[in-house]
This record gives sequence, C-alpha cells and structure tokens, in this order.
Amino acid sequence: MKILLTGGAGYIGSHTAVTLSAEGLEPVVLDNFSNSHPVVMERLAHLCGGPLTLEQGDVLDTPWLTGVLLRHQPVAVVHFAGDKAVGESVAQPLKYFHNNIGGAVSLMRAMVQAVAEGGWPRPPALVFSSSATVYGDPATVPITEDFPRSHTNPYGHTKLVIEDMLSAQHAADPSWRVGVLRYFNPVGAHPSGLIGEDPDGMPNNLMPFVAQVAIGRRPHLSVFGNDYPTPDGTGVRDYIHVMDLASGHVAAVRALLAKPGSFTVNLGTGQGHSVLDMVRAFERASGRPVPYRIAPRRAGDVAQCWADPGRARTLLGWQATRSLDDMCADAWRWQSGNPNGYRSP
Ligand code: NAD
Ligand code: UD1
Repeated sequence: MKILLTGGAGYIGSHTAVTLSAEGLEPVVLDNFSNSHPVVMERLAHLCGGPLTLEQGDVLDTPWLTGVLLRHQPVAVVHFAGDKAVGESVAQPLKYFHNNIGGAVSLMRAMVQAVAEGGWPRPPALVFSSSATVYGDPATVPITEDFPRSHTNPYGHTKLVIEDMLSAQHAADPSWRVGVLRYFNPVGAHPSGLIGEDPDGMPNNLMPFVAQVAIGRRPHLSVFGNDYPTPDGTGVRDYIHVMDLASGHVAAVRALLAKPGSFTVNLGTGQGHSVLDMVRAFERASGRPVPYRIAPRRAGDVAQCWADPGRARTLLGWQATRSLDDMCADAWRWQSGNPNGYRSP
C-alpha cells in the first residue's frame, strides 16, 4: 500500500515517512528540495531498512504529477509540500499564493485527471497539512475545530483557502476522502538523531532557535514579550513532538481508507507551555545554558494557543504521548549530532 507524500523530504514529511514505513505502509517521497536536502533520503533509507522511492519534481507540474499517480497507484496522498515562513509570506505574498494554493490546485487536478483517465481506480484520499494559524487570535483556549477561522498573513490565508477548496471538492464529488490536519507547534526529532528540523538561515520558530543557542551557534535567544496575560508573561503554545504528529498522519490515512467522508482535526497535545518553560526544559535536556533577553513582542503573535485534541482522539483513536522533555531531548540529539543540519560533514 503506497502513500504518496508531497514534500516528503521536509521536516514533517520525513518523520511521517519513517512512521508509515514502520507501520508496514510504503511511502513514496515527492519533493523538489526547495526547502530540504537530498541527504535526507540517505538517512531515511537507513531508518526504513532500504531506500524509499523518490519522485523529484514540482507539485505545480500537473501532467507530471498525474503520471506519478498513475505509475505508483497510491492508496492515499499526504500533501505537505508548500512554503511556510510567515515573515517571507508578508514580504512575498505571490510566492505563497502561487506555490501553496497553486500546488494544491495542481495536485487536486492531477488526482481528478488520474481517476478520469481510468488508470487510478480508487476514490481519491487526501490528507492536508493545515495549521493552527487558521484560528487567528482565538477568543479562548483550548481551541476546538469549530472555532471561527481567520488569517493575519498570506501564509495563513493560503491554509484557509486550501481548506475551503478541499471542502468544495468534497461537496462536488463526495467520493473524495479528505482529512484536514491542523497542526499546533511541531518540534523535536526522530529519537535516532538522524533526521530533524533543518531551517535554512536564521530560524523563525522558537525550538530550532533555542537549539542553536544551546549548541553555541547563536549568542542568545530573544524572548518576544514578557507582558502577555499568561502565567509568566511569555507566549504559550501547544508544542507537539513531530513523531506524535507523524503517527497522527498514519491514523488519518487509516481512517480515510476505512470509511468514506471527510474530517478536520486538531493535532496537538492539549497542553500549553510558555517560552520560558521551553528554555528551562531545553537546558535540562542539553545540560547547556540557554541565555535569553527580553525583547519587544513580535508583530502578529498571539498570547496563548493550545488545542482541544478530543476530536482526534474520538475520530482517529490518536493522541500525543511524548512529553516536553522528550521533545527537547530528541531535538538536542539531532542538533548536537548535526550542528549544521544536513549540511554537516
Ligand atoms: P518543510 O519546508 O520542511 O517541508 C516542505 C517540503 O515541501 C520541503 O521538502 C520542500 O522542498 C517541499 N516543497 C515545497 N514546495 C514544493 C513544490 N512546489 N513541489 C515539490 N516540493 C515542494 O516544512 P514542514 O515543516 O515539514 O511542513 C510541512 C507542511 O506542514 C507545510 O505545508 C506547512 O505549511 C505545514 N505546517 C507546518 C508547521 C510547522 O511548524 N513546521 C505547522 C503547521 C503547518
Ligand atoms: C508560528 C507562526 C504560525 C505558524 C507556526 C508554524 C508567526 C506569527 N506564527 O507560530 O503562523 O503556523 O509558526 O510553526 O510567525 N518566540 C520567541 N523568540 C523567538 C521565536 C519565537 O520568544 O526567537 C516565541 C513566540 O513569540 C511565541 C513562541 O515563541 O510565543 C512560539 O513561536 P514560534 O515557534 O514562532 O511559533 P508560533 O508563533 O506559534
């Protein structure tokens, strides 16, 4: 049973590939390496007990993508591919509308085409990487899936539009099976330390920044605001171990294959941790100091955001099991073993 992973060489895709493989499913990685490194394929071969099939190319190329579907006959597609830097999306919105929305349109058209040609005789099953960013600034926490959606930047806007496109397609053709997964804050790495998050340049997100401070690549962390209405004044988020997130994808694929329909679920732990909680947990895990300075709030940040993960539990039989200490220990193993990410010698 092949599962096609667009963006499968990226951070979440690579961890999902390992988990699918461990569960006896066969991941096929599709990627153009615009934000990943081909070395990841060697690491995946090591972790999966043999090389994975790679389709190197662009999701924007609909005819090629149609051919990939016809050639591999996947039972489901997980669509990770896309750009994800919030700041860059504000500076270059067209890049995001083109690659994220254009990529999703291209993939869905390829799926329609592959079925229409009669060569892919199955109901299309698609899992999509959405984000808690679609909740904007939530009025209360924890957040359930029926909270109002909004967007504050072009990246978030693309997630909202793609969610709407998927529901329109499902309404137009109810044979489609669609699973929308709204990730909270994925962090950590595979416990082997062989694969992990490898941001290009200055990290935008907290955990990779903290890890680079601990390893000495950066002198200190800037804590963006300590005057939020939270217990210690710093922002609170629902950090989820990337391996828990990966198993959420396996559960979503299995649910789609078991029963027609569509669903939208939060993938989070249901627990909030502050920036300073994260600093302390990382210091414990690494045995290194993480110096920090309080800096002004970052534009667009919300005070607190965490999931009600109840629907994923009921619908998918999935829940996160790994602790904040596990997340930091695994992130540290990856960071200390690969100080320059996949570019390490
Ligand atoms: P990532 O950048 O590590 O992985 C994305 C992969 O897609 C990369 O390997 C990149 O090379 C590939 N890609 C991009 N455009 C492509 C194209 N046109 N054709 C083929 N390949 C292409 O990102 P990630 O953290 O693994 O995130 C995966 C998905 O999850 C993204 O859609 C992202 O928006 C979403 N998401 C991520 C987070 C997070 O914190 N990491 C949170 C919420 C949602
Ligand atoms: C950010 C994005 C969100 C996206 C998510 C994906 C913004 C405004 N939001 O979410 O749209 O879906 O990443 O992973 O960019 N922090 C610091 N110092 C740092 C970095 C972060 O104090 O150097 C704080 C932030 O203010 C926040 C917390 O750490 O309170 C987490 O930040 P981050 O990892 O960037 O995630 P989000 O802001 O939740």
